[in-house]
Amino acid sequence: MSVFTKAIVEWYKENKRELPWRDSTDPYLIWISEIILQQTRVAQGYDYFLRFIKRFPDVLTLAAAEEDEVMKYWQGLGYYSRARNLHAAAKSMNGVFPKTYQEVLALKGVGEYTAAAICSFAYGMPYAVVDGNVYRVLSRYFGIDTPIDSTEGKKLFAALADEMLDKKHPAVYNQGIMDFGAIQCTPQSPDCLFCPLAGSCSALSKGLVATLPVKQHK
Ligand code: ADE
Repeated sequence: MSVFTKAIVEWYKENKRELPWRDSTDPYLIWISEIILQQTRVAQGYDYFLRFIKRFPDVLTLAAAEEDEVMKYWQGLGYYSRARNLHAAAKSMNGVFPKTYQEVLALKGVGEYTAAAICSFAYGMPYAVVDGNVYRVLSRYFGIDTPIDSTEGKKLFAALADEMLDKKHPAVYNQGIMDFGAIQCTPQSPDCLFCPLAGSCSALSKGLVATLPVKQHK
């Protein structure tokens, strides 16, 4: 395992956020939480998640519900196509949450990030999540200025994310890099002074923390 991977896993053990969807490996619950968190902050999504799963605790209950009621539980969260897609996807499952990455990816409203999150958290499958947090952490630590929104950048960061993934503990590693980006290596004022990776961070040694990651279209 690389120094980077080890440090992320260690950091997570010390700093992990206690969040309700993390107590579970139920793919349904993880799916609901990840759809909510696609465009909603943890602080806001938290209560919505709890209310939603109380009323719709499993695939069958959600599939059997009226769309109007599903929408009611989404009221105020915005991006309402998320709720419509959830409902449609639940109806497409015949009561059983899909078990392969390809099937999960094929669900309405699920992209590569969400499929990797569900499959690693619920099933322990070795898929690396790549989101804004991951771009920021990797671009800084490895000092990569390839634009994250370029074709080349997307390829490069996806490959690097795969390489860094802890293949034996993908759930811990993925949640770790997510929280590390959200809490330690933040966009505006990262806590480099107390960062366990400060000694080997390329951006920090070159004074590039504030300029990475690079975007070609702002
Ligand atoms: N943002 C997206 N997915 C998340 C998760 N599982 N935990 C915390 N923040 C997230």
